[in-house]
Amino acid sequence: MSKFNNKPNRYFDALLMVLFIVPVACVQKRLSVNGNDGQYRNGMVVCAYPDAAKVGLDVLKKGGNAVDAAVAVQFALAVTLPEAGNIGGGGFMVYRSTGGETNTLDFREKGPATSNANMYLDQAGNVIPDMSLYTHKASGVPGSVDGMVQAHAKYGKLKWADLVQPAIDLARKGFKITKHLASDLNYASAQFKQLNPGKNYLVKDTQWQEGDLLVQEDLAKTFEQIRDKGRDGFYDGIVADQLVAEMNSGGGIISKADLQNYHSVWRKAIIGTYLGYKIITMPPPSSGGIALLQLLKSVEKYPLQRWGYNQDSTVRLMVEAERRVYADRSKYLGDPDFYKVPVDSLLNPVYIASRMNNFSWDAATPSTSIQPGTFVGYESDQTTHYSIVDREGNSVSITTTLNDTFGSRIFVKGAGFLLNNEMDDFSSKPGVPNMYGLIGGKANSIQPGKRMLSSMTPTIVEKDGKLFMVVGTPGGSTIITSVFQTILNVIAFNQNMQQAVASKRFHHQWLPDEVTVEKGALDSATVIKLQNKGYKVTTRGGIGRVDAILKTPQGYYEGGADPRGDDTKLGW
Ligand code: GLY
Repeated sequence: MSKFNNKPNRYFDALLMVLFIVPVACVQKRLSVNGNDGQYRNGMVVCAYPDAAKVGLDVLKKGGNAVDAAVAVQFALAVTLPEAGNIGGGGFMVYRSTGGETNTLDFREKGPATSNANMYLDQAGNVIPDMSLYTHKASGVPGSVDGMVQAHAKYGKLKWADLVQPAIDLARKGFKITKHLASDLNYASAQFKQLNPGKNYLVKDTQWQEGDLLVQEDLAKTFEQIRDKGRDGFYDGIVADQLVAEMNSGGGIISKADLQNYHSVWRKAIIGTYLGYKIITMPPPSSGGIALLQLLKSVEKYPLQRWGYNQDSTVRLMVEAERRVYADRSKYLGDPDFYKVPVDSLLNPVYIASRMNNFSWDAATPSTSIQPGTFVGYESDQTTHYSIVDREGNSVSITTTLNDTFGSRIFVKGAGFLLNNEMDDFSSKPGVPNMYGLIGGKANSIQPGKRMLSSMTPTIVEKDGKLFMVVGTPGGSTIITSVFQTILNVIAFNQNMQQAVASKRFHHQWLPDEVTVEKGALDSATVIKLQNKGYKVTTRGGIGRVDAILKTPQGYYEGGADPRGDDTKLGW
């Protein structure tokens, strides 16, 4: 197996890999602005790969709106960012029109019709290692193509075919790969070969090098089907036949009926506030939105600005909030179409305040003493991110994923695209952690047609009724805390967008009971203070790859492209 899944601390390695999966923000020379350097008046795209960002900017310049650009970027990323960009996966979109209308689109994958709660267990009831990750059974029914079709039908302005064509061109003519992509392809090479006998996708005899041309002819043909037939180009016809044949060749369970029955869902955004800012974010089946609003509310009354960015009081408060919020996530969050998620209770300010009652400045609260909360009157429910704003001020925040880097690492033969391993985001067995170390239970058990719980947190922030920020990130379980920190960096710590995105991060998720920090995130005095209070602090590589856009008080767009990847911000 590749180094992706062969280390003792596997879920954090997986997180690292997922970080390589997604964001897009492209920076180019300013074209026509009167704002400061790097500020733009007419629109902006920030995403995880330069060529995809250019595709999005071109669409905006041709008069396309933010949703048109998002469709083109999604498909371009499926070519240029095979680690996480996708048509074989799913995602979530948060939309805000220039007039303030909000909407969200859930194009998350679903459990196939023959999936079931015990499908990853052996006869003794133990989870079979890697079965939900690197097998044909690891894939949920993909949602990305239907999601883009739905988004375009509702909000798009330009012709569908013109938005798909750039992906065809990138796949057929090829594009020069970055150092990151070369390195990821080399890491995955052995596993690609092992899991894809007789196929030669993304592998070559020698090592990939920065600047190599990557050509994907089968993928170009698949995109031609999508260009010409829209939804049917993927969920019916030749591509669907190829996907089902691939399933049949490896014991997978996605059927033609599963594909035909897949439909993305428009859901009402969940909305909260933090210090007067309006936070517009993703409802379940993502846990991200609820968790983000809980976190912001948990820290709202404390003087973070006075304490300072990443100072010990700030870190301790945020970690204690994170510990409690992730405990709630483990019990109460799941697909609202199958499980009654207690949204109002989880977001009730009195409940959120009560969760912090046993927080003490004397010592860390051990996670063993924290359980998911209880409510009075239990109510009546390597990913990638891109942020886009158009000339009119419409904005789109999309996070999309195959789950692990390169998903299941299994290609659909003849169709040239990778399948997701999103089934691992379900709880295979209550209390047994998934690849991110996240625990789940009944709310997130496997059921046919159910969507697996996600941490993706595409978010848009408003101030005084106007657009303020578009933000999101990949990073598995660290997505929520990365978005949380980025918003605080701007609102509480007065960082500009690029600083807020580049700033070092830390993370706590209840279990395991440790604060993981990026190298350099905390100074040694702060680490010692935390340790003296009983916090276990561990250092790791990059956390998250945030791509975000801020609207300045003067009306310019200012991007933040995460320096941890190839992320690019482009504006005009
Ligand atoms: N696959 C990672 C997530 O959706 O949270």
